[in-house]
Amino acid sequence: MDSDIDRLVIDDCERGVFRIHRSVFTDERILASERERIFDRCWLYAGHVSEVSKPGDFLTRKVGGRPIIIVRGDDSTVRVLLNTCRHRANLVAREPSGSGLKTFRCFYHGWIYNTRGQLVGVPEADAYSSAFNKSDMGLMPVPRIEIYRGLVFVSYYTQIEGLVDYLAEAKDSLDLFLDYADELEVPKGSHAYSMRGNWKLLTENSFDGYHTLITHERQFSTANGYVPDGQGRSLGNGHVIFGEGKLKRPTYLNQIAGPELQQQRERLEKKHGRERAERIMAVNGNTLIYPNLIIVDRWRTLRTVFPVRTDFSEVQSWALLPKGEDKSLRAKRLDNYSLFVGPGGFGTPDDVEAIESCQLAYGTQKEVEWSDASRGMHRSPQNFNDELQIRAVWREWRSRMTHMRHATVHDDRVVQVA
Ligand code: FES
Ligand SMILES: [Fe+2]
Repeated sequence: MDSDIDRLVIDDCERGVFRIHRSVFTDERILASERERIFDRCWLYAGHVSEVSKPGDFLTRKVGGRPIIIVRGDDSTVRVLLNTCRHRANLVAREPSGSGLKTFRCFYHGWIYNTRGQLVGVPEADAYSSAFNKSDMGLMPVPRIEIYRGLVFVSYYTQIEGLVDYLAEAKDSLDLFLDYADELEVPKGSHAYSMRGNWKLLTENSFDGYHTLITHERQFSTANGYVPDGQGRSLGNGHVIFGEGKLKRPTYLNQIAGPELQQQRERLEKKHGRERAERIMAVNGNTLIYPNLIIVDRWRTLRTVFPVRTDFSEVQSWALLPKGEDKSLRAKRLDNYSLFVGPGGFGTPDDVEAIESCQLAYGTQKEVEWSDASRGMHRSPQNFNDELQIRAVWREWRSRMTHMRHATVHDDRVVQVA
């Protein structure tokens, strides 16, 4: 299987050829390996601490195929617990979120767990022998958890490197994103939707400059649009960034909230100096934290995509906004957020349409086996619509799927410089 997978990505820098075999989007065995070699062995974004700001706050979601509970215990510690009763497996927490919780009570047979996950009540406990030890039967925590500046990451791989090492250069881009305000919060609610397409198609789409002016012509041809700029860049370990650069036209948010944002700019300048403030405020691009956390800086959005089947994925996205900001600015931001990246916005439906349409077209793969991602492979630097960042992710994918380690080279080895 390993050498088979190796052959599914053609990476020929000499000739400037980069191809992906279309079975990677349809083959059940590939998805099974991805679960084992990617989702079971990476750091995965689970949520933000502001979503459980008080003791007794909790939320449930699915991360890497496992139902989990993120809960702030009565001791104020944020924990991530596997959402399965130690009796006979039922989901212990069934609501999307809640607060003021003292205990979780499994509705099946009534076992009770506290907010630290300890088993504190079993109906008619004397029915069990002395071998039954309540203290061994608490809700199981995820094997690894690390919280980076409020972002909660989990891993199901106990041996995984620390999160900061894992992030490589993506840490700097994350820092820029998180420097936006002294305290950030995820406002209540999220966008959750699904698409009839392979999960990798959305990661690709999220930093694909080539499609923006074409797929999103309707949005970008209006006065509110922007001119894409910047280039794709590898950040190591499969993380990439796309679209860093200066805006050539003001963003929609700048147009509707100019003066309010000016105040924020001044605050940031005081704290970080002019140049960094500019970068924090302007455009830092879209960042992929491998494998599936997409940070869309322009809309201050965090988005994850997880596979359900080879041709079906679940997406969830949240805004991460300055805490305690003015109500009208907040309203404008949320508006702006929904306008493009919302599931009914100007961008997402077009992207999902393109993704689902690709997936349908894989029906031809016995005859048409390969997709191409070689744009700009012969030149450095890249244009905004070249595909270096897409290749970087595929290089990581191939290395993880074949050797279960990071790729050593993510960039093109450019042979002829244009
Ligand atoms: S499955 Fe939870 S109490 Fe039985
Ligand atoms: Fe798009």
